[in-house]
Amino acid sequence: MSRVGVFGAGYVGLVTGACFAELGHDVVVRDVVADRIEQLRAGTVPIYEPGLEELLSRNAERMTFTLEVADAVEGADFLYVAVGTPPTYSGDADLSAVWTVVDELAGLERPAVLVMKSTVPVGTGAKVRHRLDERGLDNVGYVSNPEFTAEGTAVRDFQQPDRIVIGAFAAADGDAVEELHRGIEAPVVRSDVASAEMIKLAANAALMTRISFINEIANVCEVTGADVVRVAEGVGLDRRIGPSFLRAGIGYGGSCFPKDSLALKQLAANSGYHFQLLNAVIEVNELQKRRVIGKLQQHLGSLRGKTVALLGIAFKPNTDDVREAPSLVLAGRLVAEGADVRAWDPVADGSALPRATICGDPLEALDGADAAVVVTEWPQLAQLDWRAAAGRMRNPLLIDGRNMLDPDELRAAGFTYEGIGRAAA
Ligand code: UDX
Repeated sequence: MSRVGVFGAGYVGLVTGACFAELGHDVVVRDVVADRIEQLRAGTVPIYEPGLEELLSRNAERMTFTLEVADAVEGADFLYVAVGTPPTYSGDADLSAVWTVVDELAGLERPAVLVMKSTVPVGTGAKVRHRLDERGLDNVGYVSNPEFTAEGTAVRDFQQPDRIVIGAFAAADGDAVEELHRGIEAPVVRSDVASAEMIKLAANAALMTRISFINEIANVCEVTGADVVRVAEGVGLDRRIGPSFLRAGIGYGGSCFPKDSLALKQLAANSGYHFQLLNAVIEVNELQKRRVIGKLQQHLGSLRGKTVALLGIAFKPNTDDVREAPSLVLAGRLVAEGADVRAWDPVADGSALPRATICGDPLEALDGADAAVVVTEWPQLAQLDWRAAAGRMRNPLLIDGRNMLDPDELRAAGFTYEGIGRAAA
């Protein structure tokens, strides 16, 4: 069994650490936020990720949480980097947290493998290798081992992945990382470091392209009288296409897609290539988030003084993450149009929403509203008593931004219902 130091106790670092501990390895997770480390030591999980709490408590014996670099590095066979790489003002990935970790390794004596889990531009590994060599750390190997875990299902995605990607400069380092994953059944893709870095960016770009594609099909459905839900079903059954990531809606958000699409766009641009298709994917997504406002205006006219309930704040269900959530753009636009915003979410904290009244349950959010928007497809909304919901609103208008509800049922419950790309009644 190995000893693994993990830098970063966020969504990726905690899941990675807990899953390696579950495989029997000793794991030390290091973060710079004292509050986070204290919570973890006390057995409290600072993020909402299904299955993570159980995994951490089951493996508590094999897991340590620390603020000290030395604790994570000491005796470590692997040093996983799982720090954030947020976009900079220019859209490039901000790698400062990655460089800090690399610099903190100065003086490391024991041979170890530095493994990049964070999403980084292609070429980062080569730069890190160079920096390690400059610092005399040629006993430290470097491997790119990107993550493909989606929030809400991250533990399962780690334990039952579609594939494990390992890009190494030296085959022995790649072999060691492959061995570290023993116990996980999945195809392993071995490659050079740059290709592994690109696999991650390209996989995300492909998924985003599908979403923007189906969103544009949805928009054409709206003006031609077709129903995108049926269309996606019929298209997705083609084995060459497949059914996933064909749900039309109010656009993708989250901690990965928006940032990684910008980073790939800028990576291409910095290398002198104009990535036309990706630019379109990004632009379609931006417009898609705003289309709901147009729909509300079509029904209500001016939104000044109107009350709009946002059902869901998180960027998707089963997470408390609000990074790049469509709810933020919607709330901002609604406030700018002079509307009052009420919002509900079962787990996400609504404090990031500009000037919204946060409500404890969905019916309360609907009180006196002129319209409701399904922003996040939380299962609670499928179970809601929509007849009662209609009764609490001033005007029972529902824009289903996720196409999660049955239009006929909603209309029978008294609603004017509109989805995304679904034929009007
Ligand atoms: C994504 C990737 O799936 C994961 O492999 C990568 O490691 C990180 O980014 P995540 O952002 O957690 O994971 O969630 P995901 O389930 O992929 O959804 C991303 C966004 O796309 C969400 O906003 C979701 O609502 C949206 N989406 C997804 C759609 O609009 N339609 C779909 O059909 C699927």
